[in-house]
Amino acid sequence: MEKILLSALEKKTTARPPVWVMRQAGRYLPEYREVRAKAGSFLDLCYNPALATEVTLQPLRRFTLDAAILFSDILVIPDGLGRKVSFVKGEGPQLEPMTTKDVAKLDSRNVTRHLEPVYQAVTQIREGLAPEKTFLGFCGGPWTVACYMLEGQGSKTFAAAKRWLYAEPQAFEDLVDILVDASVQHLAAQVKAGVDAVQLFESWAGMVPHDMFESVVYQPLVRIAQRLKASHPKVKVIVFARGAHPQHLLKLAKSGVFDGMGIDETQDLGWCAQHLGPFVTLQGAMDNTLLLTDPQTIRHAVDRMYAPLKGQAHMIANLGHGILPETPIENMAAYVDATHKAWRSA
Ligand code: CP3
Repeated sequence: MEKILLSALEKKTTARPPVWVMRQAGRYLPEYREVRAKAGSFLDLCYNPALATEVTLQPLRRFTLDAAILFSDILVIPDGLGRKVSFVKGEGPQLEPMTTKDVAKLDSRNVTRHLEPVYQAVTQIREGLAPEKTFLGFCGGPWTVACYMLEGQGSKTFAAAKRWLYAEPQAFEDLVDILVDASVQHLAAQVKAGVDAVQLFESWAGMVPHDMFESVVYQPLVRIAQRLKASHPKVKVIVFARGAHPQHLLKLAKSGVFDGMGIDETQDLGWCAQHLGPFVTLQGAMDNTLLLTDPQTIRHAVDRMYAPLKGQAHMIANLGHGILPETPIENMAAYVDATHKAWRSA
């Protein structure tokens, strides 16, 4: 049976843009909140294969989505590397901030052993997933994961992480090498357990100074995709460099190692179709805030965004960033349904 989302990543012509939504398993769903409340901590949920399977599959029961994304987090990698990671209600992730001396203590050899419950969840999800659904795994981009490791929490400026770029270049490079290595192992284990494609979430790509993008974002992401594909040539890789300058998106697209590219809502999708479309399948780029309006406004916006791309570029419908927890469920349903019809009259 055809997996339409995988077909789009293979640059085959699809009858409609396949659709999934970043953070589709999450707090806007009452059934997620229920499981989350009984799971204990957020990481307990990530490391409980039965519960992680349940929340991964929840959104596919409600909506006609074309893919499941593994329920996990990008910060399981620092956890697996031995850093203390916790999620504090209402405040987001908390890590013990790193010093340069801590870099040498990180050991990527135990990461996949520590993350074994994640791969067990992948196996169980695969079994529960209909054959026409694509199964997505993921990891964070090294820069984004480093931001949380160096800062210790989310930040508006990521000044501690950026200071390392200038003041501790060797320690930063060593940290990135370790993260690349851990990410490749983590993704390869997900592929072995059953995912079809993986997404690299470089959510803070837009924070990196222009002349450092190449070494801090581009090279590490390309190395991860190259090394993963060397051992698993069939796996499709989507890169999501949120907020990156179009020049940098073009460079990533032309690298030849990525099959898909996530586009955020600040980018010009028409420009992306013309310039990036020849190299990668585009994915995005609906503003997540639009899902706080009403079904009619959402349907109009979907038609405006996706109809002009019919026949112009290979496209996967998605938001430009994760769905907001306050999103009404009927609006998510309206978005997904509208994408199914987006090319019908176009
Ligand atoms: O997309 C999915 O449905 C799959 C699961 C997934 C989660 N996090 C679950 C989650 C994925 C792919 C992520 C990726 C992730 N995690 C990113 C990159 C994508 C992005 O959104 O930019 C980042 C930066 C993180 C780190 C992280 N995890 C933060 C900053 C937070 C707190 C912010 C928040 O939204 O509360 C998390 C927690 C988190 N990860 C939640 C979920 C569903 C909410 C926590 C909860 O349920 O208590």
